[in-house]
Amino acid sequence: MTPEPDSDGSDGVGDAPVPGDLTVVSNRQPYRHYYDDGEIIVDRPAGGLTAGLDPVMQRTDGTWIAWGDGDADRGVTDEAGTVRMPPEEEAYTLKRVWLSDEEIEGYYYGYSNRVLWPLCHGGVWLTEYAQRYWDRYREVNGRFADAVVEQADGDGADRTIWYQDYHLALAPRQVREELPEAFAMHFWHITWPGADTFRACPQGVELLEGLLGNDLLGFHVERYCRNFLNCVEDALDEAIVDHDDGRIQYDGHRTHVAAFPMGVDAEATADAARRAGGERFAEFREDRGIDAETKIALGVDRLDYTKGIVERLKALERLFELHPEWRGELVYVQKADESRSLIPEYRNLQQNVARSVERVNERFGTDDWLPVVYTTAWFTQEELADLYRHSDVMLVSALRDGMNLVAKEYVAAQLDDDGVLVLSDQVGAHDQLGEHVVSINPYDTDAFAEHIHEALTMDDEACRERMATLRELIHEQDLYAWMDEVFATARELQGAGDAGE
Ligand code: G6P
Repeated sequence: MTPEPDSDGSDGVGDAPVPGDLTVVSNRQPYRHYYDDGEIIVDRPAGGLTAGLDPVMQRTDGTWIAWGDGDADRGVTDEAGTVRMPPEEEAYTLKRVWLSDEEIEGYYYGYSNRVLWPLCHGGVWLTEYAQRYWDRYREVNGRFADAVVEQADGDGADRTIWYQDYHLALAPRQVREELPEAFAMHFWHITWPGADTFRACPQGVELLEGLLGNDLLGFHVERYCRNFLNCVEDALDEAIVDHDDGRIQYDGHRTHVAAFPMGVDAEATADAARRAGGERFAEFREDRGIDAETKIALGVDRLDYTKGIVERLKALERLFELHPEWRGELVYVQKADESRSLIPEYRNLQQNVARSVERVNERFGTDDWLPVVYTTAWFTQEELADLYRHSDVMLVSALRDGMNLVAKEYVAAQLDDDGVLVLSDQVGAHDQLGEHVVSINPYDTDAFAEHIHEALTMDDEACRERMATLRELIHEQDLYAWMDEVFATARELQGAGDAGE
């Protein structure tokens, strides 16, 4: 069955009532101002959470607090760092937090991305515990906390504060001291590690205490919830942990821990694929000299060491060894976005990926065929959706990933149900979609190569059946269903008067 767009004429935002006094707090901002030829331009949210929350914020006239990282951000805000957004609607307040270079180095590049990111993804040996990173992380969390307190009234009664991700682990507790009546919730977008990994972190106790300032703490899947409960039990002697109900009682406060698998705006991706109608993809093929008969395998990633890009290129190399019939018949397109390049690990990864691409191309390429097309170009939503739609196989081989929304976007763009998703069994999305994908273990190169072959040769009927099921799932459990679920749980807890003591 092919899922159809919502026919209720709604704006795509879920049906659940949204909290009236809503404050969202995230590191990344929904809109960024920058100078272009002396003129101020606004960057719009391209996808994911920022794009999804934007209409919700517009409905509630809430406040969104985030780091102002655009070079023209200060030029459009008032003295309090606020500006009404979106530009033509002015429907909610964006409050920007200004960070100095030193704060960015310590809080963002340091503790967030050289400690918490690798630690949460299980890469303990990549963590670097410089004292200044921790100091800046604590201070900057305090700055975000101050911003939350400033725009709330009194003790925060009737206010819902929604923190996003690992950059803000300490703010919930800091804010609770000032706004004891506010309802605090937090969504942790990345994996949460097991207790034997987390115990390597010297600041583990403070991080957990910070997060236990929340009334509701959400992760993508149950596994991460269990890990979190185990970490609390392991590190905090005084905590009472109810593993069955996902409840923690600590320091006079109760925190509910629950799984909310995040979805994508499936309809928006499907619409973009419909609008593109194959033309963008035809142009892409032509520009790259890929003929219409050649099969396409695709990878779309931020250049991060957790994404398993090097492992994927190894598996492709192995595929061309084990199945030489694919030489000249298959092109792998790697679309990559540069990320966090000031961190040496990320620069190493960029070099490793570039070297791997070169190796495969030198080894197998011929005068009229290059096995790997590598691009860091920016794609419009239509261009990307068209590429998704017309790629025969999507390769998602992350070594660890909280959810992996790229896998879901690929599915949403499959209007003809004729693509195959090859998905790492190490990512959150696999817990949801695993039954209907070609599963791989990204470390098992030979088996990975065979699974790419299997995906490329899957018969039409099996392929359509799987993809139609996947598509239905992705539409049912989309970004708006996710938000509804989070807000419904928050309301339930607020209603039960069960959030606090
Ligand atoms: C992950 C994190 C997000 C982050 C994104 C991009 O998905 O969960 O919080 O925004 O990566 O990384 P960046 O460092 O550019 O914000």
